[in-house]
Formats: sequence, structure tokens, C-alpha cells
Amino acid sequence: MLMSPSREDHAEPEIPRSGTRKNRDGGVGLVETLSIQIDLPPGGFRLQCGQSLPELTVAYETYGALSPRGDNAVYICHALTGDAHVAGYHDPDAGQSGWWDGLVGPDRAIDTRYYFVICANILGGCQGTTGPSSNNPATGRPYGSAFPRIAVADIVAVQRLLLKQLGIERLAAVIGGSVGGMQVLEWIIDFPEMVDRAICIASGANKSAQGLAFDAVGRSAIRSDPDWQGGDYYGTDRYPHGGLSLARKIGHITYLSQEMMTRRFGRERNETRSDFQVESYLEHQGQKFIQRFDANSYLRITEAMDDFDLVERYGSLEKAFEPVRAKVLVVALSSDWLFPPDRSVQLANALLRCGKRVSYCLLPVRHGHDAFLADTRQLSRAVRAFLPWIRQTAGNGRERPWIAESDRVNQPRRDEYGIVSDMVETGSRVLDLGCGNGKLLSTLTDEKRVSGLGIDIDIDQVIDVLDRGHEVFQGDIDGGLAAIPDGVYDYAVLSQTLQVVRRPRFVLREMLRVARYGIVSFPNFGKWHNRLELALTGRVPGVGAASAGTTEEPDTHLFTVKDFKNLCRQEGIDILDMACIPGGRLGRRLVQAGLCNLGADRILAKIARARGAGRAAGCRRGDQSKAGTR
Ligand code: COA
Repeated sequence: MLMSPSREDHAEPEIPRSGTRKNRDGGVGLVETLSIQIDLPPGGFRLQCGQSLPELTVAYETYGALSPRGDNAVYICHALTGDAHVAGYHDPDAGQSGWWDGLVGPDRAIDTRYYFVICANILGGCQGTTGPSSNNPATGRPYGSAFPRIAVADIVAVQRLLLKQLGIERLAAVIGGSVGGMQVLEWIIDFPEMVDRAICIASGANKSAQGLAFDAVGRSAIRSDPDWQGGDYYGTDRYPHGGLSLARKIGHITYLSQEMMTRRFGRERNETRSDFQVESYLEHQGQKFIQRFDANSYLRITEAMDDFDLVERYGSLEKAFEPVRAKVLVVALSSDWLFPPDRSVQLANALLRCGKRVSYCLLPVRHGHDAFLADTRQLSRAVRAFLPWIRQTAGNGRERPWIAESDRVNQPRRDEYGIVSDMVETGSRVLDLGCGNGKLLSTLTDEKRVSGLGIDIDIDQVIDVLDRGHEVFQGDIDGGLAAIPDGVYDYAVLSQTLQVVRRPRFVLREMLRVARYGIVSFPNFGKWHNRLELALTGRVPGVGAASAGTTEEPDTHLFTVKDFKNLCRQEGIDILDMACIPGGRLGRRLVQAGLCNLGADRILAKIARARGAGRAAGCRRGDQSKAGTR
């Protein structure tokens, strides 16, 4: 029986640790897998299928230290064939580190100087946690075919029991990819009060028909092996290695993208043998796999994964997500065809539709599904950005001075953000379309305590927004805002973006569908400087940050104040307020003289769907006065 960690301030937690005795390559160092017998009621652990397990052993590892307040625990859910060994080394002389060593450790995305990280081998597995190869107390022999069918909910319930026994009541975050992502979803639905943040990577609400098909073929490869013996092969000298190896090869094909396979292997053959490189690669993967995995575990875990279906269980994803309290990040991988990005989008959209705090990003990777294990550079950035900022922990406080610094040195549109802030009511809900790095959202959060969501197409910007602690969706606003129900926002802001979207009318309509008011800013092409340049050189002058016709991403729609007013009139949109922001002394004089279209460098307008006939704009300049449209 293990001791629970003390809850007294500054007391050292007494959770047994996997250890950090030796630090190699800056990681967590030498670690060991621990084992714990879970305390169960007399009836044992009841599974979703109705059967019970009389005993439960869980193999787990931990890294870092639990904070005195117990608020820094991060649970990692491993994928189909993973195990508890996430980071560090078991053997100081072996080169093999844990399966997410690049993400977990000091100064890594899941920074063990601040977080207490836990991962356990899942129920049904074969790396130390109770599974088909474990001893069945009823018979004194391994369960084999008698091991019950398990569900992802059972896997997570066991994780919950483990944490309870370790004295951990809250999770700062729960993170997992693939079937690990399904566990994350189960966590936020089944134990909503326990989870603060959740990251669901390359997963879905259920497996596609194609995914089910690959698993079914893999299972039949195992069951067709004459050495499978109905699942009771333990203790015989015959193991279904051929079938398990074949199942792994089939599965492995789905983990790689077509591009990756082509780049790595092409149609190359091995020099000494006639087989293809891709063939020997899969053979190698199959052979490695049978040395560490059990065929019955493969059957039970793939069945659990295939049975997982939130829509079937709850009627709809929205119903499934009703209890969710965690802030969620859904991550998709661009080249994943096992869980294609649209599966992640479906999750993120459903969470958004039921008003949950959710962010979504699409990582550009070539590797395919396995990118969350093999190509983790962008994933590391997203995870690091999303995790909460722990200020009081067992280690040093984690501060974020660079954010404040960059804000100080780089405030090109502070005046504009200030005007937007003036237009927005305190405590309102704001949607920032084309949110860039999220500075406007930060300004509005700081000054007006808004709750906001940003949308941007660029992954680097999206990660910056996450880093600022805002919710953000990676997406193309030209594609519409279908996931967002009508009227759920007070304001939709389109800051310096109208001129670069392909369908400005459609975007304006969409923003006024989802929000009561729109706030639009754009560079004014009608300013005197542009008119002069065009007249003198005969060339379209640069507008705002982009330069028409000369940059890779030119402004696709050039607006003057008159054009914008005309567009609004045609679309039945009222301009409720307009600020003309002049550039330079002459511009200021022109704006002060009421010649907004001639003097304004940038325009900022508050708009709304017209109730009756279009009203004339009440205009104001950067320094407030009525604007002319000459
Ligand atoms: N012929 C034979 N073997 C080859 C080969 C070839 N043409 N090309 C590469 N290999 C071998 C390498 O020698 C190396 O062997 P080793 O592992 O014994 O050192 C191995 O293949 C490298 O595998 P690779 O897939 O290229 O590594 P990676 O860094 O790209 O990916 C993993 C690492 C861990 C993601 C990957 O190996 C893996 O196991 N994927 C499956 C993970 C999984 O279960 N995903 C399921 C998610 S649900």
C-alpha cells in the first residue's frame, strides 16, 4: 500500500517516483517502471461489459515532483502499443529512451521542472498492467481467452483509481494521441471536475470504416495463426508470432503517409535480396513488435478502440460533451489518413457548438499518423503553448516575460486596438477573425475582460495565440464559420483582414450572422498619397502592410471609404461608428477637415445588420469628427 502525498504546504510529496538519478542528454535521466496493486471493493473492478476483474495491477512511471498544492499533475495517455515508459532511460547503457522523451523532461514541452508527469500502461496491456497475459486469480493461470472485453471507459476508470491511490485529485492536463486521444475524451466526459486542460491529438469520436477494416484484418491475422490456440497459448511453446507480426505490419501501413513511404522507400529494393525496401522495413517492424507485445492484448485493445463511439453512446457529440469543463486543445496532423483532420475538426466544432473552451490546430507534417511520435517539433510548440502557466510549483515559478517584452517593443497598431477596445463592452464575447498572434485579444482581455476566440490560418500565429492563453481555431475564414451558431458572439472583429480575404461580402455576412456587431478595419486605398502615386507613376501603390501586385500575398480587395460604405449599403449593413486613422501630418489635417477618404490611412468601422433602411454612417476620425468621403 502506497502513502498518499502530504497536502501540507512545502511538504515533499511522498508519491514513489520513477526517479531522476542520472540525467542524460538533459532529459529526465534514469527511470524505472513502478507497480501498484489497486485497492478494490469486494466485488473487484467492474467493467463496462458487466464482468469484473478481482485484482488490478498497474505499471506506471512518474517524472518531476507533485507541487504542495497538487495542481501540477499531467497525465499522459499512451497509444495502442505504447507503455508507461514515456521519458528517460531504463538502462544507462542502452540507447533507447522513452517513447515521448523529446516532449517530456526539463525545459521540454511538458517541462518536468514544473509539472509532475504520470503515465501508466493501460488496462488490457502487456507491459505490467493487468491484461490477458496476467495471472487469473480464479485459475492460477494467465487469463488468455478468459480476459473480458474492455472499453476505453474501463481503461480511464483504472487510471482514475491509480491517481486516487496516489493521492492526486486534479489534473492540470491530460494528453494523448490516437487511442490515447480517445482516453483524453473519455477523461473530460467521465471525470469533468478533475481535468483543467486536455490535449487530444490525431484522434476522433470513433474510428472510420476504413480504420475498422484495418483493425479487423489485423485481428483476423492473429486468429488465423494456428499457434493462437483460441487465445490460450500461454505456457505452451507455440505463440502466434506470425499473426501478430502480420497485424503489426498492416497497422504500420496506416501510421505512415503515402508521401512518407514514397520519400523513404520509393520502389527501392534491398541490395542483397530481391525484396523491396518497404517490405523489409515492415518485416523489421513486425519482428521487433513480437518481441515486446502480446497477441491477446492487441486483440483486446484494438477491440476497445473500435468499440469507442461517442456519437453512438450519447446520441450526438454535443450531448457527449455537455459535462466537459476542461479547456481543450484538439490537434490534427495534416498527412494523417488513419484519423484524418476532419475527425479532429468534428470534435473541435462540437465542443465549440456547446460553448466549451476549445482550440484547434492543424500541424503541417509529412509523416502521417505516427507524426505525433516521430515528428514532434510543431507538436512540442503547441503543447508547451497550451499548458497552463504554473507560477507556484516545486521548482521555480514559470513566468512569461517575453510576451510582455514583445508587446512593449512591437505595438504597430496600438492606437487601432485602443479604438477597438473603446467600441467593445466590458465582459462581452468577441470573435477575432484573422487574429494574427492574438495581441488584439490580449488587449481586449486586459482592458475589457472579454472572453474571446481567435481564428487564423497560420499555424505559427495560432501557437502564439495559444501561448497568450486564448482560445483559437486554425482555419480559413473564406470557408465560412459554419461551426459557429448564429448570434453567439457580441462582436466579431476583422482587423486588417478584409482586404486579404477572397470573399469579403461572404465574410461580412458570416461575421454578422455569428455576432451582433462587427468591427472592421482596413487600409484606406483612397488616401491622398495613393492617389498621387497612381497619378504620377501609373502603378498601384503599396497598401498597408501588403503591397499590391508585388508581394506573395497581395491585398486582393482594395477598399476606399466610399467603396466600403457602398458595400455595406448593398449588403444591408449599417455603419454605426467609423474611426478614420490618419497617417502623417497632412493626413491628420485632411481628416480634421472632414476629408476622411483623402486623409485616412486606416479605417475602423463598427457595423451591424440593418434593421430597416440603411442608415447614414455616423463617422468619427482617429480624433473624432464627421468624415467626408471625398
Ligand atoms: N529495412 C529494414 N529495416 C529498416 C529499413 C529497411 N528498409 N528502414 C528502416 N529500418 C529500420 C531501422 O533500422 C530502425 O530499426 P530500429 O528501430 O531497430 O533501430 C527502424 O526501422 C526505424 O523505424 P522508423 O519507423 O523509421 O523510425 P521513426 O523514427 O521514423 O519512427 C516510431 C519511430 C517509434 C514512431 C516508429 O518506429 C514506430 O514504432 N511506429 C509505430 C508506433 C505506433 O504504435 N503507433 C500507433 C499509434 S496508434
